[in-house]
Amino acid sequence: MQPDSGATREGHLPVHGYRFYWRSFGAPGPKGTAIVLHGGPGASHDYLVPFADLTARGYRVILYDQLGCGRSERARDEGEYRVDRDVEDLDEFRRAMGVDRFHLLGSSYGGMLAIAYALAHPEPLISLVSVSGLASVPLAQREMDRLRRELPPPFPSVLDRYEARGEFRHPEYLAAVDLFYRRHLCRLSPWPPEIVRTLELADGPKYRVMNGPNEFTISGTIRDYDVTDRLGEIRTPTLVTAGRYDEVTSVVARSIQNGIPGAEYAEFAQSSHVAFWEERPAYFERVGAFLDRHPDDARAR
Ligand code: ALA
Repeated sequence: MQPDSGATREGHLPVHGYRFYWRSFGAPGPKGTAIVLHGGPGASHDYLVPFADLTARGYRVILYDQLGCGRSERARDEGEYRVDRDVEDLDEFRRAMGVDRFHLLGSSYGGMLAIAYALAHPEPLISLVSVSGLASVPLAQREMDRLRRELPPPFPSVLDRYEARGEFRHPEYLAAVDLFYRRHLCRLSPWPPEIVRTLELADGPKYRVMNGPNEFTISGTIRDYDVTDRLGEIRTPTLVTAGRYDEVTSVVARSIQNGIPGAEYAEFAQSSHVAFWEERPAYFERVGAFLDRHPDDARAR
């Protein structure tokens, strides 16, 4: 099935005093709206365009660039780059878009944000999909530490050596980062241009402040973030997805599934962190079927 690309729209709108860029695919219809959150923190919506495939099942899909990301404005103060701020921005954004009830999907940090939103604002949510997301940065970091130790020699010691010197831009260090990414971030070869563009855009202040120098070194302000012990509060129907080779590993995904009552889990055997690219048809079949099983009860009443 082909997405309904005829109904693609884009624009900017004000969110808490900043201009936010958004893009939508498909028309609002009986299936309702899915908002998809990008990761990073500090990446951009660009790598999420495959989610437009959900228009073929009747969903309107909305993507946007979070504060300080992509084509949205930079924060005037780096102290504004916070999880709670991104949560409140999402709530303001969906109101400004005229969305009362919606399915919320989030990739990676976007999944962490989606979980934070479900804890703070469950009312408008129809369902929740954690797309290689996380609820505990310390757990995700421990798992990434394991994956980097499992790289073939000499790469683990190359990473250790340059990190000890603080040389995160040395070509040998970056070659080891590239190997990690090709195993655990995206296993397609070549990478889709949207992923290349997103990684280039992610190389900015928000990523450095909140995340750190690269995907597997989360030394920024989110490093201690952990809401695992609050997952039991979530009543929104939830699907947790991960790739078999995911940098945010299946151990992390399972911790979310185990924490949220009734949550479902789907693992993609040929994928790492972007199964929606790596196994695109199978991914959207699984996610689309989940969304279809959770229609908006409020509309039916
Ligand atoms: N840096 C991870 C992401 O892609 C957590 O959002």
